Amino acid sequence: MSKTWQTKLIHSDAKIPEGYRSLATPTFRGSTTLFPSASVVNDTWDQHRVGYTYGLYGTPTVLELAARVSELESGAHTILTPGGQSAISLIDFALLQAGDHMLLPASVYTPNRKLATRLLSRFGVATDFYDPSISAGISSLIQQNTKLIWCESPGSITMEIQDLPAIVRAAHKHNVRVALDNTWSAGVLLDAFAHGVDITMQALTKYIGGHSDLLLGSVTVRDNALYQRLGAAQQVIGCAVSPDDCSLALRGMKTLAVRLSAIETSALGIAKWLSTRPEIERVLHPAFSSCPGHEFWKRDFLGSSGVFSIVFKPGPTEEQVQAFVDALELFEVGYSWGGVTSLAVCYNFGHLPGRPSYDHRIVRLNIGLESTADLIADLEQALCKVSS
Ligand SMILES: Cc1ncc(COP(=O)(O)O)c(C=O)c1O
Repeated sequence: MSKTWQTKLIHSDAKIPEGYRSLATPTFRGSTTLFPSASVVNDTWDQHRVGYTYGLYGTPTVLELAARVSELESGAHTILTPGGQSAISLIDFALLQAGDHMLLPASVYTPNRKLATRLLSRFGVATDFYDPSISAGISSLIQQNTKLIWCESPGSITMEIQDLPAIVRAAHKHNVRVALDNTWSAGVLLDAFAHGVDITMQALTKYIGGHSDLLLGSVTVRDNALYQRLGAAQQVIGCAVSPDDCSLALRGMKTLAVRLSAIETSALGIAKWLSTRPEIERVLHPAFSSCPGHEFWKRDFLGSSGVFSIVFKPGPTEEQVQAFVDALELFEVGYSWGGVTSLAVCYNFGHLPGRPSYDHRIVRLNIGLESTADLIADLEQALCKVSS
């Protein structure tokens, strides 16, 4: 049919050469997905089963990243979410209901804790916190209505490595599922499924993205029934992800191996140097025996990434510890680790049950890709300011 120029703006007849190939995954944006005919229109979320139906469930760019995360983690299915925290909440919303009970390690990422205590509690889900070093002792905390045990290894800030196989054995004996926040290992330094974990999630925001310019999360499972529950929950929660961000994450993933390797070497060198400093009481790096659960790291992990914490010896005030962080010239102050820039953040958990009482003396470092010697020199000049 003939078309006016206004209609051609929407339904163009312009032609371009076919057959383009490139190394980059194309970025397919789209809310509306086109169906070949009226009779086949449907709103099924599982596009692997029925073909593409709606942008909310992912364009090819989104599904490519999901498939690659699944491959990396040796999972079977991955659902992407707009951030690591939404991956956590998707798991909880998909698997829990009123009357259920969940166990969280006291060392868990704080927004995961807040989701349980401030929101899920309003929906009738009860949560207890456990000492992350509990191992098989977790059996005694499992109740008749316990449905989910979360693990995070290492724990946020205080860095405890958990005895995952022992927790999984106890959980499975009681038909309880185990979810793991596997962000620190980038999904590759710990083979979570080989250790029996049922569900893994990652903040792809960190090492997979790798450049501090996107927010994304992933939930990976091996079991199809779990995948169906997660997919059905995602459909009604409506947590879509941006294909542009997925495109950036796909690019980040290509350099993950070399970034992780360089970051691991640099972080180990810096942690070793810090452990010799008279101002430092403890280096909480999983590869060091001073880190709780180091023996489980040696047994279960394939390496270490670039996030660890240091604890000052008693003495400096909170202001002095903050002054140390402010005196750093190469380490920036900010959340969200896993990028190429080194970061330092002070914490003070007070006296939370199940968490060590380091008060204001704990600082978390994220090691980036600057020269190790320069980072050590920066730490040295800042430490001198605190001790003087
Ligand atoms: C261990 C861990 N899990 C989850 C998240 C949440 O990720 P996002 O910032 O992408 O929501 C973070 C963020 O800092 C984290 O450190």
